[in-house]
Amino acid sequence: MDATPVWFMRQAGRYLPEYRALRDKHSLLELCHTPDLAAHVTLQPIRRFAVDAAILFADILLPFEPLGLGLSFAAGEGPRIARPIRDAAAVRALPILEPEESLGYVLEAARLVARELPPHVPLVGFAGAPFTLASYAIEGGASKTFTRTKTFMYQTPEAWHLLLDRFADFTGRYLAAQARAGARALQLFDSWVGCLSPADYRRYVLPHSRKALSLAAAADVPVIHFGTGTGPFLEDFAGAGGDVVGIDWRIPLDAAWGRLRNGQGIQGNLDPAALLAPREVLRRQVREVLDRAGGRSGHVFNLGHGVVPETSPDAVAFVVEQVHGG
Ligand code: CP3
Repeated sequence: MDATPVWFMRQAGRYLPEYRALRDKHSLLELCHTPDLAAHVTLQPIRRFAVDAAILFADILLPFEPLGLGLSFAAGEGPRIARPIRDAAAVRALPILEPEESLGYVLEAARLVARELPPHVPLVGFAGAPFTLASYAIEGGASKTFTRTKTFMYQTPEAWHLLLDRFADFTGRYLAAQARAGARALQLFDSWVGCLSPADYRRYVLPHSRKALSLAAAADVPVIHFGTGTGPFLEDFAGAGGDVVGIDWRIPLDAAWGRLRNGQGIQGNLDPAALLAPREVLRRQVREVLDRAGGRSGHVFNLGHGVVPETSPDAVAFVVEQVHGG
C-alpha cells in the first residue's frame, strides 16, 4: 500500500447518526450479544468512510458476564460491575473460560463481518489487557485514581498476580480465537495502564501483558499493543510485545518510535479532540503526525484514543482524505 493506512478506535459509536438510531432500539449489550447487529454496526463506518480496517463491535468487558461479575452499562455513566473482585477468595473462585463457549456470539459476529468485508479491509479483533480488565473488575466501574486497584496490588500481591495471570491466559486465547474466526489483526487494549509508575508497570503488569501477547502471537496475524500514558515506560511497554505499538498524543510519534524494539511498527497518535477543531487546525495536526512518521512504512494512522461522541462524521472523513492524500 502506498498511502499510510488509517482507521479509528471507536469508529463505530455514538458520533454516527446511524449508530444512534440503532441504539434507540437496542441496548449496548443487546447490540453486542446479537451477531447480526454487531456485524451491522461494525460495517457502518466502512460504508461511510474509506478507512483501511474494521474493528469488531464488542466491548473489552464482555468476559465479565461469563465470569459471573455482573456487567451493565448505565446511560451516561459507563460500565457497572455488580460483584467486583475485592479479595483473594474472589479471584480463586473465577471460572476458567473457553472463548468458544463463553463468548461464542463475538466469534460469530467476527465470522459474519469477515465474510462481508472487501478483501482490502482487514477485520481487527480485540480484547482488554490484564491490567485494564483488573482495574474494572476491582473498582467496579470507571475510576480516575485507581485507588482500589493499587491497594489490591500492593496489599495482596499474590492474589493480584493470580488475577492478572487468569486475565492474561483468557485474553490471549480469546484473541487467538478471534483470528481463527476471521480477524486479520488483533489489538490488546491497555487503556488505563498509564496510571502506574514505571517500576510498578514492570513489577506488577509487564509479565502478564507479555503472556497475553505471546498467546495472541500464536495466531500468526499482526498484534497491536495499545496503551495511553505509556511515555514514561515506553521501552518496557513495547518490550512486553506486539508487532505494532499504539500510543497516544502525549508523546511525539517520532520520539516514541525511536524507543520501540527493532522492527516494531507504530499506531497513532492524533488527539481525538483535534477532530473538534476548525479544519485548518485539524489539517495542521494531521500533517504533524504524518511528518513525524516521515513516510516510513510501519505507521498506521489512528487517534491516540477513541473517537468522542461530539465528533462530526465529516471531520472523520476529512482526516481519512488527508492521510490518504499524504
Ligand atoms: O468502534 C470500536 O472501537 C469498536 C467497539 C468498542 C467498544 N468498546 C464499544 C462501546 C471497543 C473497541 C471498545 C473497547 C473498550 N471498552 C475499552 C478500551 C478502549 C478505550 O476506549 O479505552 C474500554 C475501556 C471499554 C469499556 C467501556 N465500554 C467504557 C468505559 C464505556 C463507557 C464509556 C462511554 O463512551 O460511554 C463503554 C461503552 C461502549 N463500548 C460504547 C461503545 C461504542 C459507548 C456507546 C454506547 O453506549 O452505545
